[in-house]
Amino acid sequence: MKKIAIFASGSGSNAENIIRYFRDGERGAEVALVVCNKPDAGVISRSRALGVETAVLSRSQINDRELMLGLLGERGVDLIVLAGFLLMIPGFLIETYSDRIVNIHPSLLPKFGGKGMYGRHVHEAVVAARESETGITIHYVSEKCDEGRIIFQAVTAVSETDTAADVEAKVHALEWKHFPEVIAELL
Ligand code: GRF
Repeated sequence: MKKIAIFASGSGSNAENIIRYFRDGERGAEVALVVCNKPDAGVISRSRALGVETAVLSRSQINDRELMLGLLGERGVDLIVLAGFLLMIPGFLIETYSDRIVNIHPSLLPKFGGKGMYGRHVHEAVVAARESETGITIHYVSEKCDEGRIIFQAVTAVSETDTAADVEAKVHALEWKHFPEVIAELL
């Protein structure tokens, strides 16, 4: 059985969706651990309610090589999935889990990526730029924010009357549909 660790900082709808997708064990993988850096994040109760071990760690703990490699190594983690995780990943994890850390970004990278481009900010920028389409990007994680090799993209139309909230809803729907399937293929 392959083991997935999800890192998340927010509401955790993607984390919950991925946990449920792999939950029956029939897909040969399971979510073994959720790591969260925000003690009040929704993802904590969502993942615990589904019986998944959930570690709430501070930024300095996440940057602690011995602690993190121990936590992930002891659980035999094969793939790290970032689903709305807002901290930079430390270099020792990128080295140790080379090509085994993936992120989802809620736009068509390289558009609307980089520092400060997360969550609602991305969708507000898409609406302000009068884009006719947006989407999701699943990519490997490198030392540079949002610049790792792209694995998968999916597109959705943006209409002239769409608000940032409308765009966010469309993008979330794409994320829920595709992210678990892409993870399953990678594994
Ligand atoms: C998603 O849109 C993801 O692409 C982004 O953060 C959001 C997380 O949403 N990086 P949720 O916490 O999974 O609901």
